[in-house]
Amino acid sequence: MAQQVRGVIAPGKGEPVRIETITVPDPGPGEAVVRVQACGVCHTDLHYRQGGINDEFPFLLGHEAAGTVESVGDGVTEVAPGDFVILNWRAVCGQCRACRRGRPWYCFDTHNAAQRMTLADGTELSPALGIGAFADKTLVAAGQCTKVDPAARPEVAGLLGCGVMAGLGAAINTGGVGRGDSVAVIGCGGVGAAAVLGARLAGAAKIIAIDLDERKLATARGLGATHTVAARDTDVVTAVQDLTGGFGADVVIDAVGLPQTYQQAFYARDLAGTVVLVGVPTPDMTLELPLLDVFGRGGALKSSWYGDCLPSRDFPMLIDLYLQGRLELDAFVSETIALDQVEEAFTKMHHGDVLRSVVVL
Ligand SMILES: NC(=O)c1ccc[n+]([C@@H]2O[C@H](COP(=O)([O-])OP(=O)(O)OC[C@H]3O[C@@H](n4cnc5c(N)ncnc54)[C@H](O)[C@@H]3O)[C@@H](O)[C@H]2O)c1
Ligand SMILES: [Zn+2]
Ligand SMILES: [Zn+2]
Repeated sequence: MAQQVRGVIAPGKGEPVRIETITVPDPGPGEAVVRVQACGVCHTDLHYRQGGINDEFPFLLGHEAAGTVESVGDGVTEVAPGDFVILNWRAVCGQCRACRRGRPWYCFDTHNAAQRMTLADGTELSPALGIGAFADKTLVAAGQCTKVDPAARPEVAGLLGCGVMAGLGAAINTGGVGRGDSVAVIGCGGVGAAAVLGARLAGAAKIIAIDLDERKLATARGLGATHTVAARDTDVVTAVQDLTGGFGADVVIDAVGLPQTYQQAFYARDLAGTVVLVGVPTPDMTLELPLLDVFGRGGALKSSWYGDCLPSRDFPMLIDLYLQGRLELDAFVSETIALDQVEEAFTKMHHGDVLRSVVVL
């Protein structure tokens, strides 16, 4: 029997979100219905609401979530009712050219539920990143459910489903940060702060956090930054060079995604170092660099989609480290809120007041 539950809908471009009754179908083959326990408010939800992703309104927002599997459809073997799961937007297909080359974290054909959730009048909803978890229950592809240790708090576990994983993975997976490396992170919101944490986890000896906002620098210090740079009144490239013997950092992570922050990352890096772009630019942005500098400085210029994570490999491992007290994920939950406070949470995010507001259901 299809179920009626509450969900947070973005009805049209730039319009405030509102709670509506939505219909969640029973899971079909390869699908699962998940009772959502917590869902973080991510910048991407705001992008959807503003029409910055696509025009497929109405959206069912929310995608950084954890919950319990309620029911599964035919042929589902990887999860069962009662399992505690983190929802992911990378249910790999196993068939595409990336998967076949043994690089499933690049999968070009990830799975979502085949059926659609709807409004009461039958209007089909577009779930954010194929998840739609600002709702009491949601329908996803079973592969979007990654089982983890239920001892983890849902409001913390859910954050691994997007921004925190993107930041951790930018350092650990994409940047390949290793013991003794120097790392600089430009922009220390939820994603950049997680990159700082990832750099520490990987054994970086020097971690330089850079932000316009002093509050973010204080948080980054608590998460393992050894040095901080106030970007508002300092030349970022010179500051990083001064902190690294005049050379620049081995890995520089741009967690903002502007042409100027990318240029800073490019020049704040040591010869043969790595730049990782994890912040998401907008379509109007362009970049100009002397091609000789691109060649002459060597190294690697990389982008990080979802931290190049493989949910089945990375989520359980990171939750285990968290439960052992070795990964400070609690610091990312700035506040817990109710389902009807998502619009307020967007405002706080916009003003830089929070790393994450998390809806608890
Ligand atoms: N690649 C991915 O898979 C992925 C996943 C999730 C989010 N993101 C993107 O990562 C970016 C960061 O997300 P977030 O949730 O941390 O956002 P956020 O708004 O919480 O943080 C951005 C931070 O950058 C700082 N900042 C802004 N301009 C700056 C500048 N010129 N110099 C230094 N610092 C500056 C802000 O003060 C803020 O602390 C966004 O673009 C988001 O869309 C990417
Ligand atoms: Zn694939
Ligand atoms: Zn997100």
